[in-house]
Amino acid sequence: MHDSLQVLSKKAAQALREAKTVDALKEVEREFLGKNGQVTGLLKGVKDLPDDEKRLFGKAVNDLKAELEGLLESRRHELQRAEIDAALENDWLDLSAPGEKFATGHIHPLAQVQREVETIFQQMGFSIIDGPEIESEFYNFEGLNIPSYHPARDMQDTFFIDKEADPVEGKLVLRTQTSPNQLRAMKKYGAPLRIIVPGRVFRNEATDASHEHTFDQVEGLLIDKDISIANLKGTMQEFLTRLFKREVKVRFRPGYFPFVEPGLELDMSCPFCTDGCRVCKRSGWIEFMGSGMVHPNVLRAGGVDPNEYQGWAFGFGLTRLVMMRYGIDDIRHLQSGDLRFNEQF
Ligand code: DAH
Repeated sequence: MHDSLQVLSKKAAQALREAKTVDALKEVEREFLGKNGQVTGLLKGVKDLPDDEKRLFGKAVNDLKAELEGLLESRRHELQRAEIDAALENDWLDLSAPGEKFATGHIHPLAQVQREVETIFQQMGFSIIDGPEIESEFYNFEGLNIPSYHPARDMQDTFFIDKEADPVEGKLVLRTQTSPNQLRAMKKYGAPLRIIVPGRVFRNEATDASHEHTFDQVEGLLIDKDISIANLKGTMQEFLTRLFKREVKVRFRPGYFPFVEPGLELDMSCPFCTDGCRVCKRSGWIEFMGSGMVHPNVLRAGGVDPNEYQGWAFGFGLTRLVMMRYGIDDIRHLQSGDLRFNEQF
């Protein structure tokens, strides 16, 4: 074999051996046997040689080409086999292996209980309505029979919006209670009326385990003819019994809220025990909500004639209900966004 052919042959054979992947092998193929490859180049030069060299050299180059093609083919097989073996080793699929569980979200305990409350009141013919979280002083206070000088304003520490007061409706506030929606619903739908209003309320107070600046209430309002506290008692007893899935009794104590007359505090018999527990402080009763017969001034502010209609209203803390129900001892957990807390419900 021609001298330079021998060198070329060695070089090519070595390059083939050293190619570690099928892709690297393609590189080597291009270098020697490709369109501009070294061996191809020699073949192209054959036609320009003198006749006597042409035959010999041409044969030698062709032999080399055939030899390299053979080597290339076997090396390709070798590498392909190795790649398949590696894939079998690493990319195995075990159809009998247990599946991976996806983490799924779920409904926040506050929303869960809110839905239950809504369902029960809907079954009793109440509509669920919604109202603005930014309210005017009129809806949050004046219209509810709480004038600006009234001491009851001190009971609810208010967040004010830093904006000029409206001459009629006063300043804007973050609603401190859901009660403004009594007025909104009366104005919008008139009487008779049966609604509940679940929603967030806001108070400017220092937070601790039982106080938050933001919490949830449920307002209730029923207006019709010949309505009395007896209807309120029956409705709440039925509601609480369905909610706790065991018989719950209710009792009234006098209470004071400017928008009702008489004003009442409603207690429920403890749904968590039969003979005293931590939640009812061993008394068997739990303070549940404020309520009463809607004050004539409030009916008038809502555009309802107090000589024709009367009604009752109530407001309870949804947040507190959730805490009692699940034994949550710190209100701040509820809005913490801590999944370790939320995952438990
Ligand atoms: N709005 C009152 C509060 O936040 C709760 C309340 C009491 C609502 C009596 C009522 C009611 O509708 O009649 O403390």
